[in-house]
Amino acid sequence: MKKTFIINPTDIEEVLKSPLSTALRAECEKLNLCYEEITSEERDNYILEVINILFNNNNLDKDSKPAGEVRLQEWENGWNENLEALKNGKNVNDLVPKYPSKHKLVHWRQRIIRPLVPNFDYKIHCLLVDWAIENFLNTSDTIFEFGCGPAYHLLRARKYNPNAKLVGLDWTKTSQEIIKQISNNGIDMNIEGKNFNFFEPDFSIDVPAKSGFLTVAALEQVGNRFDQFLEFVLQKKPKICVHIEPIDELLDQSNLIDRLSILYFRKRNYLSGFLPRLHQLQEEGKIKILKEQRTYTGSFFIEGHSLVVWYPL
Ligand SMILES: C[S@@+](CC[C@H](N)C(=O)[O-])C[C@H]1O[C@@H](n2cnc3c(N)ncnc32)[C@H](O)[C@@H]1O
Repeated sequence: MKKTFIINPTDIEEVLKSPLSTALRAECEKLNLCYEEITSEERDNYILEVINILFNNNNLDKDSKPAGEVRLQEWENGWNENLEALKNGKNVNDLVPKYPSKHKLVHWRQRIIRPLVPNFDYKIHCLLVDWAIENFLNTSDTIFEFGCGPAYHLLRARKYNPNAKLVGLDWTKTSQEIIKQISNNGIDMNIEGKNFNFFEPDFSIDVPAKSGFLTVAALEQVGNRFDQFLEFVLQKKPKICVHIEPIDELLDQSNLIDRLSILYFRKRNYLSGFLPRLHQLQEEGKIKILKEQRTYTGSFFIEGHSLVVWYPL
């Protein structure tokens, strides 16, 4: 029989190189992140499956389709399922994205492992987002989440910042419909939705002092076209910017599992060149980078939850 392992709070603290609060330690315990190691044959099969996707030129395949404008309607349709569920059931759980992976393996510490509990990658992803919110956005007066989709990270942010105004921005209109329902149903009364496109930011949006900006697996969708958004941030001068996104430069090109992850980022046209551009801006004295680190967690194809924290000067 295969041995079962569990990711405990100390493991998370080790990969994050940061202590977890009592609340997050308890949350981690509650998630019961059990997994087992895979055999070398299963690892070979995994590598083969990823290579087949990397060399698959059928861009209609869900796992190989590049990000960009062509996907707007897909996002609308996806979030519409959440909207309908929310309208019918009025339950916060209906906001969880309905794209659970069909794949049964995930990334953990540069290995591929088999989770033994459902929605393992979603759970660990939320734990990391909560950690980032608790550490970097807990004193913001307003939290803006760009590419928020159904806004479920913002709703959890309330736990770590009881008084902040929450603003969820996304290019889909359905996201704003969902946020309207959240507010009308009394799930959270201090939340507002705004339409926002990373490619054409609305510079008329008011950003009060002491605001915090957040993106989670959202800026990933712009490839190398992040300049307009950066211009927006530099102009609006939030107190802090927190990104949990796939970042090539934080992975290790010489490690096979990392290398496959990076190749997959490129295949999907995920965020590219963002961290080097931030370094350049820092050298020019325009911004200060507080943190850039990988988190050693991810889904089937990628380790996509790297953290970058910075602020405009
Ligand atoms: C992978 S989902 C992530 C949603 C949410 N942040 C989460 O962590 O579950 C990507 C989100 O980015 C939004 N998005 C993609 N391209 C965008 C763009 N150009 N401008 C604004 N939002 C965009 C999509 O509509 C979607 O809600």
